[in-house]
Amino acid sequence: MNHELPAGLHPDTLAVRQAIARSPYGEHSEALYLTSSFVQPDAATAALRFAGAEEGYTYSRTSNPTVTSFEQRLAALEGTETAIGTSSGMSAILLMCMALLKAGDHVICSQSMFGSTMNLIGKEFARFGVQSSFVSQTDAAAWQAALRPETRLMFAETPTNPLTDLCDIRALADIAHGAGVLLAVDNCFASPALQQPARWGADLVIHSGTKFLDGQGRVMAGAVCGPRALIDDKLAPLIRSAGMNLSPFNAWVVLKGMETLSLRVKAQSANALALAQWLQGHPSVARVYYPGLDSHPQHALAMRQQSGLGGAVLSFDVRASDPETARTRAFHAIDSTRVCSITANLGDTKTTITHPASTSHGRLTEAQRQAAGLGQGLIRVAVGLEYIDDLKTDLARGLDTLP
Ligand SMILES: Cc1ncc(COP(=O)(O)O)c(C=O)c1O
Repeated sequence: MNHELPAGLHPDTLAVRQAIARSPYGEHSEALYLTSSFVQPDAATAALRFAGAEEGYTYSRTSNPTVTSFEQRLAALEGTETAIGTSSGMSAILLMCMALLKAGDHVICSQSMFGSTMNLIGKEFARFGVQSSFVSQTDAAAWQAALRPETRLMFAETPTNPLTDLCDIRALADIAHGAGVLLAVDNCFASPALQQPARWGADLVIHSGTKFLDGQGRVMAGAVCGPRALIDDKLAPLIRSAGMNLSPFNAWVVLKGMETLSLRVKAQSANALALAQWLQGHPSVARVYYPGLDSHPQHALAMRQQSGLGGAVLSFDVRASDPETARTRAFHAIDSTRVCSITANLGDTKTTITHPASTSHGRLTEAQRQAAGLGQGLIRVAVGLEYIDDLKTDLARGLDTLP
């Protein structure tokens, strides 16, 4: 029997209990409805359901019970009315922009956002007449100054990939709402375990479920969380036509991943802080970027906005006198690791290490990279659950022997 959950439960309880719609078999673990379509009892009911006049599943591009469970659980963790699942984080951003923008509209983004996001909005949407401005991540006045009468959306990512710059969500929400503009926040890096952007005034929250929500590097997934008036009325009809829907199998994997999200993110953040402190004292390291360090320019904001934790991603610059030496040294440090995986994903229980300037941000122009502060000596580490001393030894192997 399914009992209604009582109100007021803690997010840690919701992460394991929210949105379990048990079938008549009474399975304890969430069911996986791996089906493309749903059989209708009769033609008249089918007509009503396809017209949206009666509740009921019809076709998995439109909705699917396992995807619904994922959406309800994520919305509960983010503190939003609802959510919609998508096939990846990028398709969540695509869905949001397609649903909310038209030719002539203007978007303001941070110039330090994820490279594919900058390409999608700055290049691809420009082909359809959507204008964009890329401004400082940290300077709220720059967002205010970039507002135009045609601005419809402000889109922030905090902390950023890979430099972990923060933006003050409350300050941006006030600017957006003062101008009648929507604020969307990509919460991929902090995850709802540390930060709930809606609590600080964001209208929409974007997720790459591929990252911390899954947490074990298995599947691609994404979501947009927000109020019903936007998700149900604007995004859901578009997904039915455009088909960036989340597969039920991937939804199930991420749904189970969310059960351990809080534990993982806290343990990975503790590892990341210890590693950042150690790197800060290493003679071959010029600078460490990690919001949990006192030296981070926005440490106080991070502690307030991110539940007192710095998150599981850090970056650092190897010491070098010119860009070429910096790149050679960064490659040496990366190639000397034996435990860390050289792979672009993050949020995994396995620590990953990358050279952003030649991988995730390799498609940016040199001018864009410089504006974003992404040097050739920069290394990003997305810290996992390995024993901390093994991670230090792994990084020391290259840092102690730089060419
Ligand atoms: C901050 C951020 N947003 C969105 C994405 C896109 O997510 P996905 O790879 O699931 O499309 C990424 C991927 O790395 C990311 O780092």
